Amino acid sequence: MATPIRLDKMIAHSCNIPRSQVKQLLYSGRIQVNGKTEKQGKVHIFEEDVVQLDQQTLARAQAVYLMLNKPVGYVCTHDEHTHPSVFSLLKDPSMPPLHVAGRLDADTTGLLLVTDDGQWSHQITSPNQHKWKTYRVTLAEPITPSSIEELKQGIFLNGEEKATRPAQVTVLAPQLIDLSIQEGRYHQVKRMLAAVGNHVSQLHRWQIGPLTLDETLKPGQYRQLTADEMLAIRNA
Ligand code: URA
Repeated sequence: MATPIRLDKMIAHSCNIPRSQVKQLLYSGRIQVNGKTEKQGKVHIFEEDVVQLDQQTLARAQAVYLMLNKPVGYVCTHDEHTHPSVFSLLKDPSMPPLHVAGRLDADTTGLLLVTDDGQWSHQITSPNQHKWKTYRVTLAEPITPSSIEELKQGIFLNGEEKATRPAQVTVLAPQLIDLSIQEGRYHQVKRMLAAVGNHVSQLHRWQIGPLTLDETLKPGQYRQLTADEMLAIRNA
């Protein structure tokens, strides 16, 4: 299921050594891939490839794909200058360096995908993939029919030249909507609602493409994505 990974990265994870040391191993001809000596760290290897160090097969560290229920007040970067980082919620210290696929603001809650697989997160966040993201939006003012129409049509955000792609709006209560968008512009939902004269007072993402937030996860909890979820997002 995992996408190919650079050989030097795989060895670094598997042996828990820095890339500089990996380079030396490669350079001195101590690494074999499928029985052949490989000196290039930049080659990509697949799940079925056998990587050996001095003829000892290395276990390939599995790529990490997590769903996390982001609590309010956490940032999606590793920088804890202003707020604690979502990465501080991850308990397993042996995890490889992780990043999120689609950031949320510190005051936004809900579905966050966390991984070490850059290609996978690119597929999820790339604007060309047009993946729908659905947000439950609590509003300061009741939503009006004309603003629903504007959001559905696409609107110009402050300082931008291109209108947003058409959104989907489901009204749940006068001040509560589900808004689905296909892009991920900076503070997009808050700016879209501001552009129609409203204000977001709470924001919660509960869906990305075919993945919905597991409701058994309390804020701050996470779990691995299941094989079915991995397949669904791959085929979406
Ligand atoms: N749009 C926003 O304005 N904030 C988020 O966190 C996500 C989408």
